Amino acid sequence: MEFPAITIDGLTKRFGGLTAVDDLSFTVAPGRVTGFLGPNGSGKTTTLRMLLGLVEPTAGRALIGDRPFRQIPQPAQQVGAALEASSFHPGRTGLGHLKALAPQVGVPTSRCREVLEFVGLSQAADRRVGGYSMGMRQRLGLATALLGDPGIILLDEPANGLDPQGIVWLRGLLRSLAREGRTVLVSSHVLAEVRSTVDDVVVIGNGKLVRASTLADFEALAEHVVAVRTPARASFAALAGERGWRMEDTHDGFRVHGVTAATVGAAAFTAGVELHQLADVGADLEAVFLHLTRSSDAPTSSFAGPPPAGPATGDVR
Ligand SMILES: Nc1ncnc2c1ncn2[C@@H]1O[C@H](COP(=O)(O)OP(=O)(O)OP(=O)(O)O)[C@@H](O)[C@H]1O
Ligand SMILES: [Mg+2]
Repeated sequence: MEFPAITIDGLTKRFGGLTAVDDLSFTVAPGRVTGFLGPNGSGKTTTLRMLLGLVEPTAGRALIGDRPFRQIPQPAQQVGAALEASSFHPGRTGLGHLKALAPQVGVPTSRCREVLEFVGLSQAADRRVGGYSMGMRQRLGLATALLGDPGIILLDEPANGLDPQGIVWLRGLLRSLAREGRTVLVSSHVLAEVRSTVDDVVVIGNGKLVRASTLADFEALAEHVVAVRTPARASFAALAGERGWRMEDTHDGFRVHGVTAATVGAAAFTAGVELHQLADVGADLEAVFLHLTRSSDAPTSSFAGPPPAGPATGDVR
């Protein structure tokens, strides 16, 4: 089955003097999980709210297939979303919450137990949502999003509050939804959290697009990093100097940038430098993410004045 793509086109939202989303354009393909990444306050939730017709754009368009959300017939069967985990009536039970929604969504009430089971909440079906833990609320949000069996799934920071098993489970769930051809967009401010889940990444900073690409292309931007432990610290540092490796001193060894473990191992062997650990840490994606989103700060920063006096940056020497 072919599900629609999402198109964000020149999307802009201003709240008074603040531009929360700034001429943003990207597409989200069906059959893939797309990570929507950006630091706190970068405009992810606002973008998702515009996509769901909850916030009116100042300019531009957010389309599901070829139309805005508000023009979709039976939208809950096309688009499932979990934006805020806390927006449930606290007095209702988990099952009661879903049953209240079922007629609007256009599904039989039998579907409610099915989705609760699916998200691992069967045991808590008859407990009041007010007493749910944060992770349980996230799961209920997910159940709500999946109620209409939609082809498009929008999740805002779905891993927040989930325990490690929950995160692994969520990853499997998102992967299987994409395998069924669905369009899955999942926001996060933590790249590491979605790294093993997503096929594509859209990175924003200050409401602007920083980068949209496949995860593989994004990873290609990152430098390879190798972790080294050695009792011969001085000899190893000298070797690194000779080879021109860029190194970081960590509390228990070094991190060498831009080389593979094989290169470091061979050089250390030849030079007779004893190593106690040599490990490929892989691509330093977090560094790329920080760099991209930090450099997007500069031109749009609303602070025109000089930095405050004193060691406000923590960069004290
Ligand atoms: N209704 C509103 N009125 C005024 N400002 C708003 C409103 N909603 C969002 N903003 C502002 O827009 C900017 C983007 O907020 P948004 O919630 O979209 O960021 P986010 O990327 O989802 O952040 P987080 O990772 O913290 O969830 C922020 O500066 C926020 O304060
Ligand atoms: Mg948000």
